Amino acid sequence: MDKKIALLGMGTVGSGVVNLLRENEDLIHSSSGVRFTITHILVSDMVKTRTADVSGIRVTDDITEIENADIDLAVEVMGGIDSTKDIINKFLKRGIPVVTANKDMLAVHIDELEETASENSAALYYEAAVAGGIPIIHTLQHSLNANRISKVMGILNGTTNYILSKMTFDGWDYNDALKDAQAIGYAEADPTADVEGIDAARKTLLLARLAFNKKFTLDQVNLNGITNVDIKDIKLAESAGLTLKLLGVAEDLEDKYNLSVEPIFVDTKHQLANVHYEKNAVFVNGNMIGEAMFYGPGAGSYETASAVVSDMINSAVITAKAKNIPEEKGEPATELPDSAYYLR
Ligand code: NAP
Ligand code: HSE
Repeated sequence: MDKKIALLGMGTVGSGVVNLLRENEDLIHSSSGVRFTITHILVSDMVKTRTADVSGIRVTDDITEIENADIDLAVEVMGGIDSTKDIINKFLKRGIPVVTANKDMLAVHIDELEETASENSAALYYEAAVAGGIPIIHTLQHSLNANRISKVMGILNGTTNYILSKMTFDGWDYNDALKDAQAIGYAEADPTADVEGIDAARKTLLLARLAFNKKFTLDQVNLNGITNVDIKDIKLAESAGLTLKLLGVAEDLEDKYNLSVEPIFVDTKHQLANVHYEKNAVFVNGNMIGEAMFYGPGAGSYETASAVVSDMINSAVITAKAKNIPEEKGEPATELPDSAYYLR
């Protein structure tokens, strides 16, 4: 099954998507039956040198060209809030499914976009929007849906966790650590959202919305970032057996919901105290599963692209099932692998 893709944005995440698709094309085809062809890429700067190979792809800065193109799926990894929501709405209204990594936009517009999607037999996928490569959105939507969830809590921002880890373990100062996080591609285009806790608040909102099946607005999240964190706080905490972490918490307290993002001193024996650098972790408390922890990369080019492409595959497979298109996945195994292979 061939799927034509428009990729909106080709920065850290978009380049990861292009590279991942080139590298794992055959694997994806053999496991899912889907072959993706990126036909269009939207950028803002037409003269910028691109690190990923875009040969054979129409690269444009004209969104109307893409809005009118013959595509099966739109992948939005460019950022922006209101204007980007309008673009996504147009695709959904044409019945074209959309994959997005854009939590800034989702935290404000997800309810409207999901309504447009359902009215137009389209769908919105956003695994990459929370906790980078950790499949927490799919987990809450599909794997823990037999639970009443009372709490979701975690380290949801890679940039701030990277800064705090660099300050704690490597003796770096705040500004150098932030610059490094920007250079690697963990930070947002404007890192204010990271360090002030706004990015984590957006993710907390998206998790709470799924966990409790309720609508929230950003002003319901009590917010404190790490801009006032001092190396002295970190050292003092260390001497008391504590580690400073920026935690997003969403709790169902039965009579009300508590949503917050703030720096918290965590006992070093707690698993969250041992999640370092760009890694994220999410704890979920469900009335059947008890407590479950999900750990992995919270940001980065390939790590985030992994979540984006997984949404692309799921979208293609679900659309094919809905349209009754036969699967063509998997090749017969030619030889049995050595059992030791599995133990390595
Ligand atoms: P980025 O490196 O700044 O890349 C943004 C890309 O979008 C660039 O290619 C830029 O074009 C293009 N673009 C931006 N505004 C545009 C506009 N108005 N018209 C046309 N093209 C436009 O950003 P990123 O780090 O890849 O992040 C992309 C999205 O993924 C954001 O929503 C971010 O929050 C989210 N996200 C990022 C990460 C991460 O680890 N970086 C993880 C999860 C989610 P030019 O290249 O021409 O400048
Ligand atoms: N700037 C974000 C972070 C990217 O540092 O976590 C991933 O959402």
